[in-house]
Amino acid sequence: MKEADRPQIKDLLVSKEFGKDFLLKGWVRTRRGNKQIAFVALNDGSTINNIQVVIDVPGFDEAMIEKITTGACIAVSGTLVESMGKGQSVEIQAKEIEIYGPADPATYPLQKKGHSMEFLREIAHLRPRTNTFGAILRIRHHLAYAIHKYFNDNGFFWMHTPIITGSDAEGAGEMFRVSTLDPVNPPLTDDKEIDFSKDFFGKETNLTVSGQLEGELGALALSKIYTFGPTFRAENSNTPRHLAEFWMVEPEMAFCEIDDNMDLAEDFLKYLIGYVLEICRDDLDFLQKMYDEELTGRLNFVLENEFERIVYTEAIEILESSGQKWEFPVSWGKDLQAEHERYLVEKHYKKPVIITDYPRDIKAFYMKQNDDGKTVRGMDVLFPRIGEIIGGSQREEVYEKLEQRIDEMDIPKKDFWWYLETRKFGTAPHAGFGLGFERLVLFITGMSNIRDVIPFPRTPNNAEF
Ligand code: 4AD
Ligand code: MG
Repeated sequence: MKEADRPQIKDLLVSKEFGKDFLLKGWVRTRRGNKQIAFVALNDGSTINNIQVVIDVPGFDEAMIEKITTGACIAVSGTLVESMGKGQSVEIQAKEIEIYGPADPATYPLQKKGHSMEFLREIAHLRPRTNTFGAILRIRHHLAYAIHKYFNDNGFFWMHTPIITGSDAEGAGEMFRVSTLDPVNPPLTDDKEIDFSKDFFGKETNLTVSGQLEGELGALALSKIYTFGPTFRAENSNTPRHLAEFWMVEPEMAFCEIDDNMDLAEDFLKYLIGYVLEICRDDLDFLQKMYDEELTGRLNFVLENEFERIVYTEAIEILESSGQKWEFPVSWGKDLQAEHERYLVEKHYKKPVIITDYPRDIKAFYMKQNDDGKTVRGMDVLFPRIGEIIGGSQREEVYEKLEQRIDEMDIPKKDFWWYLETRKFGTAPHAGFGLGFERLVLFITGMSNIRDVIPFPRTPNNAEF
């Protein structure tokens, strides 16, 4: 049989081809039984569910059977039969078994169930073998697929923006430098500064914090684009919601203003949640049962309710009159902290909230300025348990206003000449946003730490795997 013809366990579990022989390969979850008969729960990662392999022990080499322990990798050929036992409808009556790789029960770290999430992070090379991470990785995949499908179906083009950039899109100075200079003896300028003109790209470069600026160049040509790629932030935030390397989805649309931008964000998030509720039922049910009773209830709630839309000033008024004690005091002009965002979403409105029209001094230089001279057309979408899941804005499309803002904020204009030129030639109203992919996976899986929804998290002091 060709490898390509070997069925996935997810398909075999619903097959009705009883009496037919199949070849299966996968990892042993458990083996139980006695000297006469053994039952092996086998999983190939295609589904959370295992297939039961029934072995008539006397027909096999006993030493080989002993090697079929939790974590071992085996190939089994056998006949598909209707199951008499409880909990499954089909099983495989084994004819031949080959052991690809044993897993010594004395040392295999996943021998027992019920490890803490913290422990599993220390064995990130093995945790995909657990039910929990299998479910999360499958949901992550289906979400990524749904993102591409949504945009493709709605006339957006996927644009590949660079990972190495020469500008700081968010202006927050939280970048990882990319350099091939000798760190011990870098070339120096006359002023004893590092001479980046001698570096690989002939200038200072960093890993991108956002594909937005390049995305805007695409939107001002193809009308609707999106980026979907890794982004990097060297912010030292050791929180359950921050990664130093995370994936961001950034649609950008010409001829689009802040209200259209909010409509898109809401429709997009609801589509993705609906997609996962339909396609990833088994995995969601598992996560709900094991971790979070309210998981699918919460997802359905977001799906069925309109997001609340308020302006920043209103949010501040609500927070100020809430009677709550805050760790970070609230006042007009200050950025909202996670505690404030979660209060608005979880206590006050009890549903997702979109806040717009933030003070311009706490937002990036590219946001469209309102006529009041104080606020900009930024928008944040806030979710229960997560806080900010999307950040976006309408962009300043007027050359002079954008240039003035760059000057006011002391941003090196020489790095942005190309960005400014789009406002000189054929500028157009446009808007977009960035969805933190892991924050979405976090919300949808009900996990409580962002380190558990990306295979190999990058956080301060952690890049082992
Ligand atoms: O709000 P942010 O910084 O917005 C931008 O980068 C814009 N350029 C997006 C745009 O308008 N095209 O980031 C967008 C989202 C946040 O709302 C959050 O979900 C996520 O990215 N995010 C992070 N996720 C994980 N770890 C971090 N350190 C994150 N920083 C931002
Ligand atoms: Mg933000």
